[in-house]
Amino acid sequence: MSPRQPSLARWFHAATSYPPARDPRRVGLRHAAAGTVLALPRPRLLACPLEEAIAGRASCRRFAAEPLVLADLSTLLSAAYGCRGQVSVGGFGFQARPVPSAGAIYPLDIHVIALSVTGVAPGIYRYLPARHALEGGPAPLSRDFLSDLFLGQHHAAAAGVLAVVTARLDATLARYGDRGYRYVLLEAGHVVQNLDLVASALGLACLDLGGFLDRMLDETLRLTHEVSLYGAAVGHPSTEDGGDVRAMPRVVPAEDL
Ligand SMILES: Cc1cc2nc3c(=O)[nH]c(=O)nc-3n(C[C@H](O)[C@H](O)[C@H](O)COP(=O)(O)O)c2cc1C
Repeated sequence: MSPRQPSLARWFHAATSYPPARDPRRVGLRHAAAGTVLALPRPRLLACPLEEAIAGRASCRRFAAEPLVLADLSTLLSAAYGCRGQVSVGGFGFQARPVPSAGAIYPLDIHVIALSVTGVAPGIYRYLPARHALEGGPAPLSRDFLSDLFLGQHHAAAAGVLAVVTARLDATLARYGDRGYRYVLLEAGHVVQNLDLVASALGLACLDLGGFLDRMLDETLRLTHEVSLYGAAVGHPSTEDGGDVRAMPRVVPAEDL
């Protein structure tokens, strides 16, 4: 099937994006120019049985102040979208990855808003799968600003990191036309499910985030040819008073933005 002009997909993306808040509190997030590369340590070997990781997964809305250790962040990123060496199938070569991708295009990226990670300055980074490294640098992150970005979800901004899965839509739409939009969303789901399960296997907790101000998040991450699709807050769950880590959020209706 020959791909059609991918106009519907872009229209749909824009039409379903949340607008900026009426009075956006712009804190002028500036982060280091691309180029500062921080090598990540080797990912941990997971000892937790898969069924335990699945059973333990829950949306966490009560994060503890304890920072994430870098080895855990490394393990999460590697399991979500790391590169596992070159494969060649029938003369077609591509990078083996922990998630599938329509046409082996791999149009996604993971950006890491590091809030509290040992050995990493709070800031904004892009995961470089081929190098298993982070690129980016410190940024004057305010948890209030991040909470606004995620529709007033303070519980998300209390995590150790906010991971944001972004997509280079052109890559997949050029091949599949508008139908490719479905594929990038499905692929983002694969990535975030890996984050959910590996967080659970590491004794951490995750909250998947579909609610955010699209354009402001794109701007914060300095995206040029990509769009933000899906977020995941990861950190240590707070078990301080024995309450349920799921603690349901206050829902912010889109019309209140
Ligand atoms: C696509 C998607 C987007 C979501 N976005 C949010 C969100 O923005 N904020 C939030 O608190 N939970 C969000 N969730 C989590 C759901 O609310 C949660 O999965 C649901 O309440 C079931 O609870 P459980 O995950 O603990 O089993 C999202 C889940 C999915 C799959």
